[in-house]
Amino acid sequence: MRKSSVRLAAALAAVALVVTGCSSSTKTSSTAADKQLEIFTWWASGGEKAGLDAMTSVFTTANPNTKFINASVAGGAGVNAKAVLASRLEANNPPDSFQAHAGMELDGYVKSGKLEDLTSLYASEGWDKVFPADLLKTLTVGGKIYSVPVNIHRANVLWWNPATATKAGITTAPTTLDEFFADLAKFKAIGIPGIALAGKGDWAIAQLMDYLLLATMGADKYEGLFKGTTSWTGPEVAAALVNFQKALSFGNKDAGNLDWPDAGKLITSGKAGFFIMGDWASAQWQSDGLKLGTDYTWAAAPGTTNIYQWLSDSFTLPIGAKDRNAALAWLKVCGSKAGQDAFNPKKGSISVRTDSDLTLYDSYLQAAAAQWKTDRLVGSTVHGVNGNNALMAAFDAAAGKYLSGGAKDNAGLAKDLAAAYVAGQA
Ligand code: GAL
Repeated sequence: MRKSSVRLAAALAAVALVVTGCSSSTKTSSTAADKQLEIFTWWASGGEKAGLDAMTSVFTTANPNTKFINASVAGGAGVNAKAVLASRLEANNPPDSFQAHAGMELDGYVKSGKLEDLTSLYASEGWDKVFPADLLKTLTVGGKIYSVPVNIHRANVLWWNPATATKAGITTAPTTLDEFFADLAKFKAIGIPGIALAGKGDWAIAQLMDYLLLATMGADKYEGLFKGTTSWTGPEVAAALVNFQKALSFGNKDAGNLDWPDAGKLITSGKAGFFIMGDWASAQWQSDGLKLGTDYTWAAAPGTTNIYQWLSDSFTLPIGAKDRNAALAWLKVCGSKAGQDAFNPKKGSISVRTDSDLTLYDSYLQAAAAQWKTDRLVGSTVHGVNGNNALMAAFDAAAGKYLSGGAKDNAGLAKDLAAAYVAGQA
């Protein structure tokens, strides 16, 4: 071998070592470990599982000898899964890859030393060229990239059933909060709750509050809440909480027993008027055989028409993953065009990749992909962008406590939210 080709071979071996992280002495055990792959999410049923299954089949086609172990833990927004995950990480028994949100949630896992740096995988897969630079920033800590995003969801979407709206005399979607509250009263007048509420696990009520904070004070002041420039106990939050209180007063009384798929059924069965929920609702309804545009339709949530309150699910490589090579193969599928275009049309989200094939997506998702490019982007609090797990847990609990206390103590809620923000800074 000529000197230059020896050097080239050595360089290639070094690259392979960085990407797989395996020396030849560990190769044998990693081949054995590659016989299985354990993936941890909260996508256990409906549209969420349909999305995961679609991406899993891209993986199993490419890796037919690797057994896929689906370690999902049911419960919207990961309210149950995150506790299980925390104890597994604590016990140094991580899954091979787990779901984490882009933004401060991911940052928390990185800062507690739980994740491997994936920067070299980005270079070898060319992802730095097909993922938006702004999104990459939310996956980067100290100059290193720590996860692979699979999608973008929108949290601030208004959903309704056209037949129910017609009955209530509502012909166009409300675009302002005033119009929204007027429509809630119209639903009430035909004897149904104006808004479907899901109180189980607190997060969906917190998401409604998060949206009303944004819609009431606007994007700049809202972002200031997480930078310390808008006070949690000031007049902007107080006004938003009055709107929150008002919205809750139009809700179903059994909210505490319902997670989001059950609350969504109130809409499609004509038993409630509006639903403010992330766009995973559409995928859920489609997995039940319902049709977008006929059985349900959508608009940007009132008061946030040109604002895209986003979140992104991503997959990680935990330090100590037992099937590390299989996990790397999984992450490659997560970032690939084939993986993302199989997953997202079923999950109700858009692909992160700028080369995604939009003909595979429905009319809602095509519109979302266009708006993602032109709208003002603002992160979701309940789904990890604005705060870490500590902030989110306290934020959700504050909203849940307010609802179960009869939605009366606005000053107490503002104080609890201020404390949630502080908890997230620790
Ligand atoms: C979010 C997650 C979404 C969806 C939703 C409801 O946190 O990012 O993918 O699963 O929860 O469970």
